Amino acid sequence: MKIINNISDMYEYSAKLKKRGHTAGFVPTMGALHDGHLSLVDRAALENKKVIVSIFVNPAQFGPGEDFDRYPRPVKKDLKMLKDTRKVDCVFTPDKDSMYPPGSATFVSLENEMTNVLCGASRPGHFKGVTTVVAELLNIVKPDRIYLGQKDAQQAIILSKMMRDMHFSTTPVICPIIREKDGLALSSRNAYLTPEQRDTAPVLYKSLQMAESMVELGERSAETLKKEIRRKIKEAGVEIDYVEAVDAATLAPVSAISGNVLIAAAIFVGKTRLIDNTIITI
Ligand code: PAF
Repeated sequence: MKIINNISDMYEYSAKLKKRGHTAGFVPTMGALHDGHLSLVDRAALENKKVIVSIFVNPAQFGPGEDFDRYPRPVKKDLKMLKDTRKVDCVFTPDKDSMYPPGSATFVSLENEMTNVLCGASRPGHFKGVTTVVAELLNIVKPDRIYLGQKDAQQAIILSKMMRDMHFSTTPVICPIIREKDGLALSSRNAYLTPEQRDTAPVLYKSLQMAESMVELGERSAETLKKEIRRKIKEAGVEIDYVEAVDAATLAPVSAISGNVLIAAAIFVGKTRLIDNTIITI
């Protein structure tokens, strides 16, 4: 497994792959890897000759007062995990100054409502940071496919649109959410939870499962589903950031469950913000 930390070496590596006719699957990460990330690596290895993973904690996607400084950076452990999979050919670990050289002033952002709803409403500027860094990474790595988790559904939808709008030749592949046995979606931020908070956190998934069952039983009102999800989360004594039902392609709010609807929620368990979602297709 090759570790590359500068952009010109990464260009060279990608060019070599192209020259040899190898396809490349790319898994962008901010490190603190878990089985969710490894499931993306597995899928990338199935569909491509070579697998490239990036590890970069992107300052541009953290707002003031967010957890950029305390975001976990267990680099050695991450590299070992990736090596142990025997499926990763290259890890790209650029530093902040190469991704954002002094004086760099260009951002990539979606100029529509998609970045202002759901997580965008409580994290202004977050998705501008995400689209900018992923556009940079795609230009550097030039993969055939990029693997994104449905856990960050809004991110995956926004990035897919950015790639279409900007004519990137990379194809996005959105992979299922990986969960703990009790349903908690895997997230690097789960490491912040105290044992007590960890016991409470699965209420987020349980509330989404409840909504899925309600739809199966015939409920079609988005308002009713959101109200019931909120009720269940509040019962567990957890603070809600948002609970929304939106069109799974446009992220526009829906009032009735029909077509592909993304029901997404964010909660604060203590200070830790957790997100989860389900896509319901009728
Ligand atoms: O999902 C993440 O880990 C990040 O948002 C990403 C896509 C690696 C961009 O920094």
